[in-house]
Amino acid sequence: MSGLVQFRRDGNIGVIVVDNPPVNALKHEVRAGLVEALGKAREDASIEAVVLTCAGRTFIAGADISEFGKPPRTPTTIDVITTIEPMSKPVIAAMHGTPLGGGLEVALGCHYRIAAPGTRLGLPEIKLGLMPGAGGTQRLPRVVGIEKALAMILTGDQMPAKDAREAGLVDEIADGDLTASAVAFAKRVVAEKRPLPRARDRDEKLAPFKSDRAKFDTVAAAYTKRAKGLHAPAAAVEAVRWALDLPIDEALKREREKFMELVADDQSKAQRHIFFAEREAAKVQDLPAGVKGVEVKRAAVIGAGTMGGGIAMCFANAGIPVTVIEASAEALRSGLDKVEKNYAATVARGGLSAVEKDQRLALVASSVDMAAIADADMIIEAVFEEMELKRRIFADLDRLAKPGAVLATNTSYLDVNEIARATRRPEAVVGMHFFSPANVMRLLEIVRGAATSPATLATAVAVGRKIGKAPAVVGVCHGFVGNRMLRLRSVEGERLLIEGALPQDVDAAMTKFGFPMGPFAAGDLAGLDISWRMRKAQGLRAEIVDQLCELGRFGQKTSKGFYRYEAGSRSPHPDDEVEQLIVATSQRLNVKRRTIDADEIVERLLFPMINEAARILEEGIAARPGDIDVIWVYGYGFPIWRGGPMFYADAVGLGHVRDRLTDFATRTGDARHQPSPLLARLAEEGKGFASLTVAKG
Ligand code: 3HC
Ligand code: NAI
Repeated sequence: MSGLVQFRRDGNIGVIVVDNPPVNALKHEVRAGLVEALGKAREDASIEAVVLTCAGRTFIAGADISEFGKPPRTPTTIDVITTIEPMSKPVIAAMHGTPLGGGLEVALGCHYRIAAPGTRLGLPEIKLGLMPGAGGTQRLPRVVGIEKALAMILTGDQMPAKDAREAGLVDEIADGDLTASAVAFAKRVVAEKRPLPRARDRDEKLAPFKSDRAKFDTVAAAYTKRAKGLHAPAAAVEAVRWALDLPIDEALKREREKFMELVADDQSKAQRHIFFAEREAAKVQDLPAGVKGVEVKRAAVIGAGTMGGGIAMCFANAGIPVTVIEASAEALRSGLDKVEKNYAATVARGGLSAVEKDQRLALVASSVDMAAIADADMIIEAVFEEMELKRRIFADLDRLAKPGAVLATNTSYLDVNEIARATRRPEAVVGMHFFSPANVMRLLEIVRGAATSPATLATAVAVGRKIGKAPAVVGVCHGFVGNRMLRLRSVEGERLLIEGALPQDVDAAMTKFGFPMGPFAAGDLAGLDISWRMRKAQGLRAEIVDQLCELGRFGQKTSKGFYRYEAGSRSPHPDDEVEQLIVATSQRLNVKRRTIDADEIVERLLFPMINEAARILEEGIAARPGDIDVIWVYGYGFPIWRGGPMFYADAVGLGHVRDRLTDFATRTGDARHQPSPLLARLAEEGKGFASLTVAKG
């Protein structure tokens, strides 16, 4: 038998244990081992029931994603399930951790399912641009009903064991040792001669939707309204509908075909790239072996403004006590009020219970005395973006923080090395750049200063993962990776306006490309005045946006920016005043306005950023192209199904990107558009950015 699957007996019960660390993915050897072990159990007359369980941290967490795109090998996951389902001996799935995807589908093929408390079950295929491909779209609706099945399949979210028990997905929650409970359960099933329920034979939960198709459409529409242009959600809805319309074997056949189509689809390839890139980005290449960070048992955040409040929530959400420090009692109250309102809104939306909200708020302490940071293992500074202020705060932190504490700054642009020099422990200083809103956005740029120690870095990355972020380690430069690239997009956006486009043209092209918001609408949301003030301080000027700011048009907060906004609404409306201002600017600058099509807009905004990203790689500010993809997908709304800017550049071909950049450089006279040496070399060699790293999936 394959070393990854063991078979033993416990009296009259056969126990099959999958042991394929870290997540028991269903790679070929596991599938083969399962089929073999099940065969043994079936043939052995002394075995009356089978328990299927897993070693390590989780029940099978799905197919092995790195096998997708390679020729399929039998036995498939479907073969495993069709071995289990018709068995005349009860098969009981004993689950812990995260039974996901193909893992949950295998469990759905079993006759009974029991779960350890804390187990979280799901069909996350949608997050990889896929849909369940081993019967999940047919068996899950039969077990939990159409409504819950659509929710699980279309969101990919995990269902806690307690809810799964209520939904009928789990028959029993184990008490004590999982395998022992499952064996006892199996013995009861045998002793009581219980029937062998098969999900495929059930119909009772489908009936209400068979007679009410409109309800199906309403539920499906609610979960797909933000999925415009995505292939997987539409396919998944269609597949679940087959549960109502087709004999199950026909539906299973079509599900498989659809799944294979999606595996080969570019959208899924991009999403699988991001899955692996996210995990790679959290790895620091040159960290000496064995380096361990400190465990962060208590955190502190300095400043309870837009970012500080959200950062404090991240810690409270992960169960880590956090102390918020402000300059005045008034600012503190206002910051904490916002945190409380934020939680209340989540409760109102049904995302959190009132009890959970109180538990989280109870983890947030506060003070106006900096000395309250003394017992924190990690302190994150989020005060105004002013070097002198930050240096003062870090000198204080140096005096007050305990030895070994990590001193982090949330600065967006400032030099982390200069901030570190305000302390006598620069090795403890690191950038932890969260994105707004900090409690929502997944990106965490971890900025490694010249003196940042491996242990500090390891702690920052580990905390980032613990609080559910996607950490990416970057080096020090103005704006780090994300904002440094963004600056080029802003400059180019202004140029497009002057050459002939209007904000709504640019935003429409970018939302059509897949960004949730165009750059100008996003600017209005964030506020235009902050960067205007920064530019003024540096003696810089941006033609259009600075004129808007001079007119008091700061964006949504003043109901006017690149667009106008009606009271109480966040919907942008094109504004004649803005158009006139733009047209007058073109005239003043002697630019003959022309029509600019959506393709040119996209290329003009994205290619210069990609060029800058190539420089970022050359300078070692980012370690891998995939890190930059993660940064743009999780911090700036780059459509995940396009795989991030570097993956996208490879898809369009670096030769094309190079040629367009050369053309932009000639037309705009901006030397920054000249293809960077790395981009030019790769294009010349006919390679992509992906050639710089080893592909995983
Ligand atoms: N296939 C291959 N590798 C996987 C994997 C999978 N399904 N799931 C996780 N891994 C790898 C990761 O790449 C990582 O590798 P690394 O250490 O070399 O970087 C390692 O396992 C550990 O993963 P995480 O760091 O993510 O560990 P966590 O403990 O934080 O999370 C998890 C565990 C919740 C299981 C998370 O890994 C996860 O969500 N995995 C993906 C699950 C999934 O999408 N399953 C469905 C697959 S599609 C499918 O099943 C099709 C079917 O319908 C036919
Ligand atoms: P903010 O102005 O909303 O909040 C700053 C807070 O710091 C204020 O509440 C202020 O009272 C407090 N503060 C000032 N001096 C203090 C002191 N001595 N002690 C304690 N508190 C003090 O600013 P915001 O937007 O939260 O930004 C904070 C930092 O985060 C800046 O460095 C900014 O560049 C960075 N950042 C901001 C993002 C954003 O989108 N707003 C995104 C990512 C980073």
